Amino acid sequence: MKIVVIQGPNLNMLGVREQQVYGSMKLEQIHEQMRDFATKSGVEIEFFQSNFEGELVDKIQECYGDADGIIINAAAYTHTSIAIRDALAAVALPTVEVHISNVHRREDFRKENMIAPVCTSSVVGFGPYGYHLAIVGMLQIFNEINAIKEMQKQQQQEQ
Ligand code: DQA
Repeated sequence: MKIVVIQGPNLNMLGVREQQVYGSMKLEQIHEQMRDFATKSGVEIEFFQSNFEGELVDKIQECYGDADGIIINAAAYTHTSIAIRDALAAVALPTVEVHISNVHRREDFRKENMIAPVCTSSVVGFGPYGYHLAIVGMLQIFNEINAIKEMQKQQQQEQ
């Protein structure tokens, strides 16, 4: 199974940008910890970060036929991007949305969320640890999908 982690604008500045909101960990450190945990869990993982909306759309499209699940922090595009929402809906993969900060407790414009309705689930407000929780959640989603496939196979054999 393969997970692609997609990081939106300004997340390359983690560790520098607004540490009181996003903490002091750099994106590379977060990714290192995610890679460790994914490897131990027997899952392939790939990372992608861009500050450009179109590149994020391209990467989501590339996941079709290549990945089994997406973990995405669309950052500021969460609140504005119909293009990213449509791309996620198009590939229709299990998708966990992450926000490092608790967007519900912040400015009103961060309460608007274009992509949550097309995601399987959201992890919000746990700081960088939210990315770890997102992998745990994705593993559970994979288990459930496999269990359903197994059940369907058995039902077909019984017919
Ligand atoms: C963020 C929240 C967004 O509102 C913001 O624009 C970000 C980061 C978060 O992870 O908390 O860049 O997605």
